[in-house]
Amino acid sequence: MKMVKAIILLSGNGSNFQNIIDNIKSGFLKIKICSVLSDNKNAYGLERAKKEKIKTIIISSNNDYDIVTKTIIENSVDIIILAGYMKILPASFVNKHIGKILNIHPSLLPKYKGLNTHHRVINNKEKYHGASVHFVTPDLDNGPVIIQGKVKIENDDTENTLKEKVHKIEHKIYPLAIKWISEKLVKKESDKCLFNNEILTTPIEHI
Ligand code: GRF
Repeated sequence: MKMVKAIILLSGNGSNFQNIIDNIKSGFLKIKICSVLSDNKNAYGLERAKKEKIKTIIISSNNDYDIVTKTIIENSVDIIILAGYMKILPASFVNKHIGKILNIHPSLLPKYKGLNTHHRVINNKEKYHGASVHFVTPDLDNGPVIIQGKVKIENDDTENTLKEKVHKIEHKIYPLAIKWISEKLVKKESDKCLFNNEILTTPIEHI
């Protein structure tokens, strides 16, 4: 079978990227990461890529999305994985690669789109928080959700403890979603996800 190829876009620490690498090494994910691209030349994720001898590319301006597309075409990339990529992708880029771009967002979408999710859930005295993996569409954090993982918010939770709990869940659900997509078990069809050719009426809940 043809090896599924992916690229990673990140802006920061890259713990999700590292976790994907670890899952490739363990044999759970059968994909190849062709390049890691970042809008932040100081992102620690780029160091992680260099350590793994994966090519790195800096996206310095909005025009550089042509370079990203070139990378995708030249490498026949199947999956574009956003792993803490903090820039909003231009709609023209997203539309060109629709159904191939995946994101992980630290909230139980459709709740808490955008930034500072941990702070906002605590302020709103929510009982639960979590993370969602979704297909990217031109509307921010609005694409169809594949899988979510929930965490309970305890009275003594702070932004930092919640962030840690959410990261743990992210490291479980992102490899699962990537595996399903690489095995063509999950697909995007218009504004829905298909799992095994059945429409997902609600996201898969990770227990
Ligand atoms: C994660 O919380 C992810 O949900 C969000 O950005 C953060 C990236 O973390 N999109 P890391 O760089 O993978 O550690």
